[in-house]
Amino acid sequence: MKIGIDKIAYYTPEYYLDLVDLAHARGVDPNKYLIGLMQKEMSVAPLDQDTVTMAANAADQILSKTDKDEIGLLILATESGIDQSKAAALYVQELLHISSQARVYEIKEACYGATAALTSALDYITNHPSKKALIIASDIARYGLNTPGEVTQGAGAVAMLISTDPKIVSLDGQSEIHSEQIMDFWRPNYAKEALADGHYSQEQYLKFFQIVFKAYMQKHHLDLSYFSAMLFHLPYAKLAFKALNLALETDKSGSSKRLSQAFSQAIHLNQKVGNIYTASLYLSLISLLQFDQQLKTGDKIAAFSYGSGAVAEFFTLTIEAGFEGRLSKIDNDRLIGNRKKLSIAEYERAFQASLPEDGSDFQVTAMSKAPFKLLGIHGHKRIYGQ
Ligand code: CAA
Repeated sequence: MKIGIDKIAYYTPEYYLDLVDLAHARGVDPNKYLIGLMQKEMSVAPLDQDTVTMAANAADQILSKTDKDEIGLLILATESGIDQSKAAALYVQELLHISSQARVYEIKEACYGATAALTSALDYITNHPSKKALIIASDIARYGLNTPGEVTQGAGAVAMLISTDPKIVSLDGQSEIHSEQIMDFWRPNYAKEALADGHYSQEQYLKFFQIVFKAYMQKHHLDLSYFSAMLFHLPYAKLAFKALNLALETDKSGSSKRLSQAFSQAIHLNQKVGNIYTASLYLSLISLLQFDQQLKTGDKIAAFSYGSGAVAEFFTLTIEAGFEGRLSKIDNDRLIGNRKKLSIAEYERAFQASLPEDGSDFQVTAMSKAPFKLLGIHGHKRIYGQ
């Protein structure tokens, strides 16, 4: 029985910052961002978009009425949660009218969360093959104005419908994992912005990659010719590029050219959206599937998931028949092409705008055309609507 991603979509807010403008404002050579980090733009979330609305706006694009009735598991992975207790997934369930018989919860382990959710969905569908699972990764990456991490911010969500007989990619349940308690990136309860030990976090990402990549290749007696593409968690493209090059150093099969070409297709969307933490790896999957013209049914795609703190997992996706049809429905022109470019002053205002710290009643000015928006706060409750 094949199980995997049957439908996939992403959402990103309708505003962005050009990183050349950011470089000029911060007195940095633009090539540091464009070449040094390999990033171009980043999406900026207005106050009417949060983890819940971005998740709903992503999932809304793929779910039929039948899907909603058949969903037995809904997991939202995020590290920009809106509540310490209640799962953001419950608001999404209500907004999208998803079955009230579904098991609904939120999951957290930094950028690894969506991969953890995906493995839970695989187990769930194995035991309940007539059901579907909805996995959503939704995040706003915030490091703060004038910080080294500022250029690696972003906002967005990816929704994936998991089922038997998937039309996009299947998973085989085989993976290599490495987990270890380290302090490379974290956000304490009192902080609105992430704390990152930037260079240490880069080292750890690459160290974890080498551990799980080597273990996977040895265990399954593989060389790089097995893969048509390699996907990575993408805080920014250059770090993934470094990981790819570590893999290519082991290449004795002449696969480097193909894997490098595929990589350049897999980073398109991420270079414009920025880091979306839990959703970054899966946005890169969408990018690859949409832009790589050489992909065909049966191709094997390597995936490296990394969440600071830290957990890493390396696994394989197999391309299934029908993926082109599914991906052709994703409208990048609407999602990315039509975003409004912000000036530095507008970006800084948007960054500093916040809901009242004490949770007092507040009405949010609508800024997005997307279907789902945060309308305000009333009686310490977030009010969502269309
Ligand atoms: N032209 C071309 N390249 C230039 C340049 C120029 N004028 N100036 C600098 N560069 C290059 C540098 O050589 C460097 O490249 P290499 O790493 O290949 O040497 C690159 O630009 C970046 O320069 P710095 O290392 O000096 O940059 P920095 O210290 O200001 O910040 C950062 C970089 C550490 C990634 C910072 O943006 C940051 O802290 N980001 C947040 C943390 C993060 O994303 N960590 C990633 C791993 S953790 C993870 O993956 C989980 C997650 O999502 C957060």
